[in-house]
This record gives sequence, structure tokens and C-alpha cells, in this order.
Amino acid sequence: MINVAVLGLGRVGPSHVRTVHRSSRVSLVAVADAEQAKLDRILAEYPGCAGYNDYRAVLDRADVQAVVICLPHWLHERAAIDAVKAGKHVLLEKPLANSVEECQRIADAVAKSNVKFTVGHTQHFYPAVAAAKRILDSGQIGRTIMGIDTWYKPLEPEKRPAWMLDRKLGGGMMLMDGVHMIDRLLWHIGSRVNSVKAYNGNPIYPEIPADDTAMAFLQFDNGVAITISRIAYRTGITQYGADYFGTSGHLKYRLPYGRHGENGVWIGKNEEWEPVEIAKNDSLVDQFNAFLDAIENNTEPAVSVQHGLEVIRVMEAIERSGETGREVVIER
Ligand SMILES: NC(=O)c1ccc[n+]([C@@H]2O[C@H](COP(=O)([O-])OP(=O)(O)OC[C@H]3O[C@@H](n4cnc5c(N)ncnc54)[C@H](O)[C@@H]3O)[C@@H](O)[C@H]2O)c1
Repeated sequence: MINVAVLGLGRVGPSHVRTVHRSSRVSLVAVADAEQAKLDRILAEYPGCAGYNDYRAVLDRADVQAVVICLPHWLHERAAIDAVKAGKHVLLEKPLANSVEECQRIADAVAKSNVKFTVGHTQHFYPAVAAAKRILDSGQIGRTIMGIDTWYKPLEPEKRPAWMLDRKLGGGMMLMDGVHMIDRLLWHIGSRVNSVKAYNGNPIYPEIPADDTAMAFLQFDNGVAITISRIAYRTGITQYGADYFGTSGHLKYRLPYGRHGENGVWIGKNEEWEPVEIAKNDSLVDQFNAFLDAIENNTEPAVSVQHGLEVIRVMEAIERSGETGREVVIER
């Protein structure tokens, strides 16, 4: 039985604690959070578990084999490398880190280790996103030519921790949500992005030093062209999902977020939408099981450190293009 610890008990950490605790494949042995009140809340709910104020104290425990890292983005590089060097298998919440340079240092540490490392790009485990991948790969809409990926939602800055509203600390909606969009596009298209032209800025909340709006045109090595359209608005209507156009059809999926918008997957042909049946699941449970499979079977995790790095490579190109107003060609 693998002993697991969850590091960071803010907005998302408690859901991972519940997932680990409910798993019959592992034991939840420790949790950490810098804020005592958050720690106390979790320890009251899971009395068998040990609590620490600093994640590094958990890494000192030889009986912990795997950690789920749910720390702020400004701590991702440091915590990921500390955990890998301590010999722990790691599931690190997305994004891998704040820049390609940081991601590369994590990837180097992973390459020198014997641990399994995966990035929590949870949307691989969303039924609609996974169904879209299966449909695209099956050729049902022919060869994919282009796509439009959108995410419109409220920013609600008053509900966010301060670090999320400061790009220097890893805040901004490109690192929060844009990375989800880039992740699913890279996965769906199965090719790398070679050029980006983007707008990226904070026109909605100019008083907040982090992006709230971005639009990007991505060109992939296999010829596919895709736009990302992303806004965290003051007021508006939620829309969340993507459309892909192929040589013999149209695929659309919409994800549940907030109270508005459609939810489902459809294939469009001859001016008719055919709904695609999708199963319900718990994406955090499926993601955690995939991580455990990689540890137990000694296989490469479904979402690798290299994939996490590629996501940030595209994100950084979007930021650079937004700053300069020019197309950024991604050199490798
Ligand atoms: N996959 C998803 O859909 C999804 C959803 C939400 C958040 N996330 C990701 O989860 C991560 C955490 O986000 P969040 O919204 O929970 O942030 P958060 O700020 O609410 O939580 C982070 C926690 O880390 C704690 N912390 C800071 N320094 C620490 C230290 N040295 N030791 C121990 N604890 C420390 C903080 O006290 C805080 O409670 C981010 O990477 C975020 O992008 C992913």
C-alpha cells in the first residue's frame, strides 16, 4: 500500500484529500498547509492523518512514497524539485510552472530521478474532452482542419487568493485557465504548436496586474489552425468548450461551468447535430488512478512532465506575442 500526502489545502487541495482518502489503493498519511485553520479543518475530518505547516516537513518522512502538490504557482518549481529529490512520486496540480525555464528545471530533475511525475491537467479525464479525443482520432469528422476553443467566465477577484491576481506570483487567467485550453488542444490535435499570434491583456480589470483576456491564433506542425478565445469578465455569460471542423464534419463539445451554457458533445453533419453519449465520472479520481497505474506498472504517466512543459512553451509564446504584437515562431 502506497502512503500518500497532500500538500496545500486551499481551494482545490481538500478535493484531492477526499480522493486519496477514498482510494482503496493507498493510505492518506499526511497533509500540509501554511495556514493553521485550513490544516485544522482537514485534520478534524481525517483524524488518522498527520498535519504539517510546511510541505518540506512531509518530504522528510521516509514512509511517504507519493505526494499530490496543490500549492500556489510561485511554489510549483521549488516544491516539485524538492519532492522529486526526496524520492517521492508526484502528482503536481497544473500548470507545471510559470515559465519554460522553471519547467525545464523540473523536467531535468525528473529525468535524473526514478520517480513517476504527472501534471494535474485534469481535463484529460473530463468525459466530454476524452470523447472529443476519441472522435477526432476515429476519423469521424475526417481530417481536422481548424478549431475554435473558447472559455468565457467571471473573474470574481474577491473569491481568489491574492497570488492569483499577480502575474509575478503565477497569477493571471492564462496560467489558471489558458493552460487547460492549450493542454486539451495539444492532446486533441496530437501535434506541436510552431507559431503563435496573440492578444493578451487586462482590459477588464486594469487595476489587477495579471491578464484577464486573451485571444491567440495557433498553428500546429500538422497544418491545423486553432484560435483560443478566453475572457474572465466582470459580467457576461459563461461559454466553455470547443468546435473542431474536419474535412467531413463538425465536432462540438461544451463543458459545465457555472449556471449557463450547454453541456455535451455533438457531431454535426448535413446541418444536423447528433448528440454523443458520454459517461459521468469523477475526473480527480480517474486522474489519481492513472497516476497510481503509472507507479504500480512502472509506465510513463498519461500526462508527462514533457507535455506540461510543452503547454507552458505555448503559453509563454502567447504572452510574448501579446507583449510585442508580433507573431512568435516557436524554436526547439
Ligand atoms: N485542475 C483544476 O481544475 C484546478 C482547479 C483549481 C486549482 N488548480 C490548481 O491547484 C493549485 C492550487 O490552487 P488553489 O486554488 O487551491 O490555491 P490556494 O491558494 O487556494 O491554495 C494553496 C494553499 O497552499 C498553502 N501553502 C502556501 N505555502 C505553503 C507551504 N510552504 N507549505 C504548505 N502549504 C502552503 C496556502 O496556505 C494555500 O492554502 C494551483 O496549481 C491551481 O492552478 C487546479
